[in-house]
Amino acid sequence: MMEMTKMSNKTAWWKKSVVYQVYPKSFCDSNGDGIGDLNGIRKKIPYLVKLGVDVLWLNPIYASPQVDNGYDISNYREIEPTFGTMEDFENLLAEAHEAGLKIILDLVVNHTSDQHPWFQESRKSKDNPYSDYYIWKDEVINNWGSSFGGSAWEYAEERAQYYLHCFAKEQPDLNWENPKVRQEVYDILRFWLDKGIDGFRMDVISLLSKDQSFPDGPVIQNKAYGSYYAGCANGPRVHEFLQEMNREVLSKYDIMTVGEAPHTNADEAALYTDESRKELNMVFHFDHMHLDYDENGKYATNRVPLVALKKIMTQWQDKMHECNGWNSLYWCNHDQARAVTRFGNDSEEYREISAKMLGTCLHMMQGTPYIYEGEELGMTNADFTRIEEYKDVEALDIFKDFTERKGFSKEDTLHLLHLKSRDNARTPMQWDASENAGFSEAQPWIRVNANYKKINVENALADSDSVFYYYQKLIALRHELPIITDGVYELLDAENEKIYAYLRKGEKESLIVLCNFTDETVEYEVDESVKAERSELVISNYKDAPEKFASKITMKPYGAYVYYTK
Ligand code: GLC
Ligand code: CA
Repeated sequence: MMEMTKMSNKTAWWKKSVVYQVYPKSFCDSNGDGIGDLNGIRKKIPYLVKLGVDVLWLNPIYASPQVDNGYDISNYREIEPTFGTMEDFENLLAEAHEAGLKIILDLVVNHTSDQHPWFQESRKSKDNPYSDYYIWKDEVINNWGSSFGGSAWEYAEERAQYYLHCFAKEQPDLNWENPKVRQEVYDILRFWLDKGIDGFRMDVISLLSKDQSFPDGPVIQNKAYGSYYAGCANGPRVHEFLQEMNREVLSKYDIMTVGEAPHTNADEAALYTDESRKELNMVFHFDHMHLDYDENGKYATNRVPLVALKKIMTQWQDKMHECNGWNSLYWCNHDQARAVTRFGNDSEEYREISAKMLGTCLHMMQGTPYIYEGEELGMTNADFTRIEEYKDVEALDIFKDFTERKGFSKEDTLHLLHLKSRDNARTPMQWDASENAGFSEAQPWIRVNANYKKINVENALADSDSVFYYYQKLIALRHELPIITDGVYELLDAENEKIYAYLRKGEKESLIVLCNFTDETVEYEVDESVKAERSELVISNYKDAPEKFASKITMKPYGAYVYYTK
């Protein structure tokens, strides 16, 4: 029985897919208002087909006051007017499908916007049909702080009670204990799935079930409030809720699901993704994102230490394999700094080569890789110099908190924002060297990176050696070589501080992946046990990489070398 699940598991389309994440607001503006939109995405389908990806994940496109760029939804069945209409969406979906691309949408159901009719009703009184749709208390019952600053509890005068909001106060948390709320959510899922979408990325899914004792959270990372994770992450009923959702809705469609799972380690993730438990296909974890944190949390100047990175990635590779779950592989998304700046080297000399190395290291692992828009160009962190240029609620809150409460200088805080702000990933996609990087005819809602004249799609497509074509090849390799999907991952040389080396092992074949994470040339020799295998080069970011590999290799700065043995 188990064996059969494993087989069917192996052939699932989403296991062989590469996902491309589109941040609609910043991808392409079709009507000259400075804001990306659905028709803009539609225009770029040929570009995405050329890259070779299989699935598009769109960040929230629903009606929203945009306090948190669409993660505050006021109507789940309507398209945000600045992005277009329902007809535009249906056209986009149809054209994407025709071009062989699937589309998954972002599902944000831990919270709604405070403008959602449910909340507007709920806040009116303690006894209306929606009163229990949210989490209301007579007093502030614990020390939880909101992700975006201040207490997680906000007073609503009409009702003379406090409601919980783990994120901005305009994002009240839904009460998943209420079965009516769950049924409303399942109806929303059916609404979109019946339109023919191919799945969901589920926002902060590990936070759905709140511990009803609402325990205080530890005060960590120099924060003003306690963490809500103690009572929200992987809460008592989260698996029950997801199994119910799966039983009632998800299992009835051929779709993919990926849950964003803050505060979830690999053992906990096994509970979400083990196929026999019928919850989700995979989750996004944050373990590798936390490796450069310091006592101030995310806003730190540390670099990710390679040995620690290998340890975390390996833990997840091993655990997901062992539990019959599945990995999602990412370096970057709309909440993170740009991959090449954070994990590679965005200097003139090494930007492209290190972007390719990072792509290699991730795309040869087991799991479904996610490419964040612009990653395939080696786009870098934003070059903002003034706080006024930042748009994100988180960045603005951090600036205030660090300069006013923690006593950091403005310069130091701006430097931290430059390294880690979510806006780094949200600057407009760089299409060409024309004004506004070809993103829009109008001034974009957020400033374009000044390096767009050099780093853009037009240049990348004209240069056969570009990061774009390298990513195209990485994607093609995944489609061609089943071992990239199925092979067993094995880390080599765990303590090496410069080289990330690993194997993928099949029954009769193997891959060896060698990545130099430094700007030095490294003479590298693999372990005895690997030596015997004489292998052929399948991809490298250096043209003069040796075609055959035995045991020793000279690895150039940020060099990536993948060899295949049959
Ligand atoms: C997730 C989203 C992020 C959003 C938050 C609240 O982490 O990725 O962008 O701000 O949830 O919805
Ligand atoms: Ca527009």
